[in-house]
Amino acid sequence: MATQAKKSSFSGGLGFVLAAAGSAVGVGNIWRFPTLAAKHGGGLFLIVYLILVLTFGFSLLMTDIAIGRKTGQSSLDAFKTINKKWSFLGKLTFAVPSIIITYYVVIGGWILKYMVSSVTEFTATANSDYFINFITSKTPPVVWMLVFLAITAFIVYCGVEKGIERFSKIIMPALFILILGISAFSLTIKSEPNADGEIRTGLQGFLVYVKPDFTGLTFKGFMSVLLDAMSQLFFSLSVAMGIMITYGSYVKKDVDLNKSVAQIEIFDTIVAFLAGLMVVPAVYVFMGTEGMKAGPGLIFQSLPQVFNAMGFAGRIIGPAFFVMVAFAALTSSVSIMEAIVGACMETFKSSRKKISIIITIIAAAAAVVVCLGYNVLSFGVTLPTGATGQNLLDVLDYVSNSLLMPVISLLTCIVIGWVVKPKWVIDEVESSGAKFGRKKLYTVMIKYIAPALMALLFLQSIGAFNFLG
Ligand code: ALA
Repeated sequence: MATQAKKSSFSGGLGFVLAAAGSAVGVGNIWRFPTLAAKHGGGLFLIVYLILVLTFGFSLLMTDIAIGRKTGQSSLDAFKTINKKWSFLGKLTFAVPSIIITYYVVIGGWILKYMVSSVTEFTATANSDYFINFITSKTPPVVWMLVFLAITAFIVYCGVEKGIERFSKIIMPALFILILGISAFSLTIKSEPNADGEIRTGLQGFLVYVKPDFTGLTFKGFMSVLLDAMSQLFFSLSVAMGIMITYGSYVKKDVDLNKSVAQIEIFDTIVAFLAGLMVVPAVYVFMGTEGMKAGPGLIFQSLPQVFNAMGFAGRIIGPAFFVMVAFAALTSSVSIMEAIVGACMETFKSSRKKISIIITIIAAAAAVVVCLGYNVLSFGVTLPTGATGQNLLDVLDYVSNSLLMPVISLLTCIVIGWVVKPKWVIDEVESSGAKFGRKKLYTVMIKYIAPALMALLFLQSIGAFNFLG
């Protein structure tokens, strides 16, 4: 196997883990995870998610990183190196970050806007129309998106060690401290007595979040929890997007991948758990269990109301929360852009600076179209999953996350599990002299269980189970 020498690399294990954790920890953890946990009533979703992280998530993450390090290439070329017949899989994988970047920077712009507005227009943000009015307006979402994209592009432009690694080493510990502080605070809050004199407390909200509730659980209900947890895992761990393959290609040969993957999994899961701990009890206290059903509006519509209800404390916690989400979103969008830039640098044999500028211009143009999807280009379609009134951003999210990612993962499992065989990855993990702890589990997962789960997830995404009602 030819290993192409890479000019750039992470300085060592820690730099890699923090950059990869920075990629993993993003909007997915802080927005999507609490939304899904709240939707499924907490407990059971947490258990299912945890089991999936340790088995399925670990296998996919290890596979992507090992592919990157062993080939020394980004997704576009890595699969070609593994087996010429599978080079189409590289192209398919490259399509995912190319789609995601166009809407991730739009959401990043919304977050920046809220970071500022939660200070300058604290009370106004609590009005749920504030969010709709903002995203449907023509110019402001474009301006905020461009600011977010410019910061992302600047970090990528600075390179792997001087940009991505240095930025992640500062941001990730800061993010962790912020989230720990806000989630601890969330447990101490309580509501004013309602008409019946009842007071809801953060600790009660905590129990709602962690206690599994099996009452009335049906097979269909369980499947919905399982599939939501699985698609969340993909997005959250940044697998099947070419990102971890690209980051893996920047990892030095003496780094213990077994340990690094475990650390990334732990970091990503703890942050997701803490995000839920921060959001779910707070929403429960101020809005009750009804508020927990808010869906994707949770952080932009429900939380500002919660911060307002907190009074003075909310004026500090609110902006701190959005600073934290902005950090998380930035490290992830950097990794999404790097997956595109790294691959293009290899393919076009061109410099980082040149490619970064070209990709930024293309991403900006595409993201403007996504912003317009909420006004002049608003069409409101129904997706095969049954979701109605969906706009361009939702459609792109559906294509990348629900259609492409399960297919890419399924095909990756086939290549590694059946074409080159799991030993191909195991040898790479053990090449640093470290032991591959979950070797047997990995083999079973990659050959049998993960492909089966992926096929299931794909069928659900195309609406094959809609007949269940
Ligand atoms: N893994 C990134 C996130 O969770 C993409 O947002």
